[in-house]
Amino acid sequence: MPPEKIQKSLKILGTGTSLPERVMTNADLEALVDTTDTWIRDRTGIEERRIAPDDASTSTYAAGALRAAAENAGVALDSLDAIIVATSTPDTVFPSTACWTQRALKLPGAAAFDVSAGCTGWLYALEIAANLLIGGTAKRIGVVGAEVMSRVLDWEDRSTCVLFGDGAGAAIIESGDGSQGLLASNWGADGTLAPILYQPAGGTQMPASEESVADKKHVVHMEGRTVFRHAVACMVRSTQEAMAAAGVEPDDIKLLIPHQANARIISATGERVGIPAERTYVCVQRYGNISAATIPIALHDALGEGRIERGDLLAFTAFGTGLTWAASVLRY
Ligand code: UT7
Repeated sequence: MPPEKIQKSLKILGTGTSLPERVMTNADLEALVDTTDTWIRDRTGIEERRIAPDDASTSTYAAGALRAAAENAGVALDSLDAIIVATSTPDTVFPSTACWTQRALKLPGAAAFDVSAGCTGWLYALEIAANLLIGGTAKRIGVVGAEVMSRVLDWEDRSTCVLFGDGAGAAIIESGDGSQGLLASNWGADGTLAPILYQPAGGTQMPASEESVADKKHVVHMEGRTVFRHAVACMVRSTQEAMAAAGVEPDDIKLLIPHQANARIISATGERVGIPAERTYVCVQRYGNISAATIPIALHDALGEGRIERGDLLAFTAFGTGLTWAASVLRY
């Protein structure tokens, strides 16, 4: 076999998460909407999720995850050249949640910006960060996925409110020595399908008004079944393309870390790309769908459980609003 080609050299120095303390179980939801624990488990795999208190916002968790990741990496937060926060639930329309995160950490100086690519956001952010490292723009970057989804849910709509949760995950990455990093990655989007999963109001298309609030336009609107279909198709294609570009077979992948929206989407994806359940990481039961935060949280938990060792080959795959998708193969 020819020597492995690391296309984008980078090293993940450390990871961290920050999650609200409050756990909302499926039983708690039974008291709110016409649903059952059985329906939620069978259709989604979700058992519980974390819900933020009123005095917390997305930057609260982004800052917490970044602090934890820096501690884990053994580096000072002020050594970061850039902070990228992937989120669909920003603190404010402007400035970015990354800037609010800097404020929360009392950490001015580094470049700070958000990436808006829904549940695919952290993989988009990783791709951007990898290129910033290669281009020499930055040497060390905090890549965060953070969401407070509970703020954009209609708590009377059982078809969406049972699915999501709050929290953040982060990784500190820096330029590698050529032995670790991305073997291959791809990303894409289909904006023509934007209206199948979106928050209609609060932007320039539909600014906040009494009517927009009364009509519940500031919450997640989703055509669940259509999104499901696209999610599986896009994550399968994207993962297969990344593996082919990396020149690796499904059996070479130690762990597939997919976006965590629905256990059925995850198992259908793993099955079709040829990676069995034993080598696919699932934590949707604990957290629900935390959009851009699911992959860094899953990576951190998998590391904590000893499922990943230095040198292992990992595959990431995600899909989200946009529609957006991405996948990458990474030598950890
Ligand atoms: O992160 C990326 C974005 N999001 C996703 O990837 C989510 C993608 N979609 C999904 O995960 C699934 O489509 C859902 C979990 C949202 C829904 O599962 P489904 O198997 O596609 O159900 P469905 O929407 O086809 O609804 C089936 C039935 C309906 O009743 P009828 O019309 O058959 O009588 C719904 O009204 O289930 C009903 N239903 C519920 N029943 C109990 C919908 N939500 C609930 C609920 N509890 N929470």
